[in-house]
Amino acid sequence: MATMTSLIGLINKIQRACTVLGDHGGEGLSLWEALPSVAVVGGQSSGKSSVLESVVGRDFLPRGSGIVTRRPLVLQLHKTDDGQQDYAEFLHAPRKRFTDFASVRQEISDETDRITGKSKQISNIPIQLSIYSPNVVNLTLIDLPGLTKVAVEGQSETIVQDIENMVRSYVEKPNCIILAISPANQDIATSDAIKIAKEVDPSGERTFGVLTKLDLMDKGTNAVEVLEGKHYRLMHPWVGIVNRSQADINKNVDMIIARKKEREYFETSPEYGHLAHKMGAEYLAKLLSEHLEVVIRQRIPSIIALINKTIDELNAELDRIGRPIAVDSGAQLYTILEMCRAFDKVFKEHID
Ligand code: GDP
Ligand code: NA
Ligand code: MG
Repeated sequence: MATMTSLIGLINKIQRACTVLGDHGGEGLSLWEALPSVAVVGGQSSGKSSVLESVVGRDFLPRGSGIVTRRPLVLQLHKTDDGQQDYAEFLHAPRKRFTDFASVRQEISDETDRITGKSKQISNIPIQLSIYSPNVVNLTLIDLPGLTKVAVEGQSETIVQDIENMVRSYVEKPNCIILAISPANQDIATSDAIKIAKEVDPSGERTFGVLTKLDLMDKGTNAVEVLEGKHYRLMHPWVGIVNRSQADINKNVDMIIARKKEREYFETSPEYGHLAHKMGAEYLAKLLSEHLEVVIRQRIPSIIALINKTIDELNAELDRIGRPIAVDSGAQLYTILEMCRAFDKVFKEHID
């Protein structure tokens, strides 16, 4: 019998294939929309990219002050067998294997510029990246540009609304799990992340509140009330995070050391010591993975129905084009059809 981990792996594959084809699901809900993913939302420089990196446990995302993330990044994590070497692949360069994660960061940056130019403009066109590693949990994560309040020099007048619309288009999907990132050194009442999450997910069932920059709070203040859910109640518990500072990034402090420092921060903290076991990026990764499994289990029946519908549609499409076919799109359809069949089979085994 397949394990839940391999189920999530299959889901990742199908998500990827569906995006290659665009929205090929026909009318109604597409397969892509039926499968869970996790997106980060929040104000600019709230720490979104840093949190994602930390959840993955690898250094590979461009981070920094100002508008660094300018295209959506759809990141699929694939857990491989122990002992395998980590590598990354981009959809826009499928034959190239990246084993050096500093060059993954460079490629994200270059590929952003290829579409937007070296500007402060944004693009809706996602960059798709897969990471294969024994040290990740199977997840699809989406890094998004930060919400802003004003257009700066070099940006169009509509940028504030454009970013909000882009972010909304991801987080409004019922199957998107929202990591709402708020920096602890700003009042939670002003959080853009919580504002948008509340709009698209009023019950809070798919929102995780993440509080970053705990180390940067004014002396004499702390975030215990927020982290205990007393300030703003969410359905899921708040998770506090200490990411690398800009100085750490400049000094190339690596992930292992950063995680260790984060753990120590919580364990030795007079304010947060009692919460230490529920804080930090590693705990957040575990929480997310557990939540995804629950969501997927609940959705198995509706996913099977959707897959069968997709199989029927793909068959009809292939009949229409006439088979056998040599054109690229036909080959892609075949691949997806094969994946859907495999997927369906695994799901059914799981239910029996
Ligand atoms: P994004 O714009 O929301 O993606 O934020 P980034 O992850 O790019 O981070 C923006 C800046 O804030 C970078 O200089 C980070 O080093 C810094 N930063 C993010 N999180 C923390 C944190 O928890 N503590 C400290 N000290 N700095 C942080
Ligand atoms: Na930033
Ligand atoms: Mg970013």
